[in-house]
Amino acid sequence: MEPISEFESRLKERPLPQHVGVIMDGNGRWAEARGRTRIEGHREGSNSVREVTRAARRVGLEALTLYAFSAQNWARPPEEVAALMDLLREYLTRERAEILDNGIRLHAVGALDKLPAYVREPLESLRAESAGNTGMTLTLALSYGGREELLAAARALACAARDGALKPEALTEGDLEAALWTKGLPPVDLVIRTSGEKRLSNFLLWQSAYAELVFTDVMWPDFRALQLCEAIAAFQQRERRYGLTGAQTQGQT
Ligand code: FPP
Repeated sequence: MEPISEFESRLKERPLPQHVGVIMDGNGRWAEARGRTRIEGHREGSNSVREVTRAARRVGLEALTLYAFSAQNWARPPEEVAALMDLLREYLTRERAEILDNGIRLHAVGALDKLPAYVREPLESLRAESAGNTGMTLTLALSYGGREELLAAARALACAARDGALKPEALTEGDLEAALWTKGLPPVDLVIRTSGEKRLSNFLLWQSAYAELVFTDVMWPDFRALQLCEAIAAFQQRERRYGLTGAQTQGQT
């Protein structure tokens, strides 16, 4: 089998997705299939987060956004929510040096004010310390929902219009984009979802309007560098048409 380093180098010969979003699903089922607790599944999933982030950086992605905790996940059993918050804090502490040493900019999107202070504080500190890094932007979607994000943007724009700072009839896509939590991030080119489920589950709804979707049966704890490379290779096989005909996109109008 081809070594992973060669696979990663080969991907660089063709256009890469600039921004990859990942719906990290299947931690619970991975654990249950092994007679382990759901929380152990999340723990193994956080090892995948580390490996996939490293691989994404090596391949040269500009932005990687990981759906780590949805707005709806607050309704899970309190002990699971608490364990996920503990894991996030542990991750932010343990990975701090690696993120800074590798020029990664850590970013977060979501209703971050809902996070407990023991997660928000290391998150904000690493976000501030890595803000000048230019290697890759790693965004954690935390307490995130695409509808919630669009609603917050609509509220902000409505207030701006009420205050006379914006003319409603002059509103542009750019204005809406600038009001989203993902302001400044490139459009999402590829969304990957693990564990065999085929839905977006409120993830980056506006941003992934033209994203290619890759679904894999692999559970998140088993998704590592190789599986990321396979998903990027699948993306590189796709023809992106943005509403045009095949002939137009191939430059044969
Ligand atoms: C979905 O699997 C996964 C989550 C709700 C949480 C994702 C969290 C991690 C990968 C670990 C912590 C994150 C970081 C950034 C360190 P599921 O529990 O819904 O799985 P199931 O569908 O099999 O039950």
